[in-house]
Amino acid sequence: MIEPFSLPMLHTASMNDTHFESIIKINALSVAIESAEGIEVALRALIEHTETHYAEEEQQMLEKKFPPYPAHKEEHDASLVQMRQAAADFFENNDVKALQTYLDRELIPFFLRHTETMDAVTSIFLENSEAHLPHWERLVPRNR
Ligand SMILES: [Fe+2]
Ligand SMILES: [Fe+2]
Repeated sequence: MIEPFSLPMLHTASMNDTHFESIIKINALSVAIESAEGIEVALRALIEHTETHYAEEEQQMLEKKFPPYPAHKEEHDASLVQMRQAAADFFENNDVKALQTYLDRELIPFFLRHTETMDAVTSIFLENSEAHLPHWERLVPRNR
């Protein structure tokens, strides 16, 4: 479970909204595991949400030409590979304990750390991207 108030707040409102949605999906999976009910549905919903979450951030980074895009995308990709593997393992073995361990020791710490590092830096860049343009580019009207 993640306490919603522990979410690091970023400068980009849409990113905060998405991260609150992530907490809802993660906590829904925790509840499903505890009650041993609806685990598969909660797991699929979490994966689907995470795919969209990462794709949207990557789209924003590409649009604003965020230089460390590859490093950020690499963390997303590794996290999705791990999440899909944890799900595949669960669907094969029905090992609730292993899924709980993945959630508590891998996903939740990763989510909080990634949000307060990669996402925080990205958000600062996205909100100030005009300032990163070369001086001459700022002088040229955009519609020319
Ligand atoms: Fe994010
Ligand atoms: Fe991210």
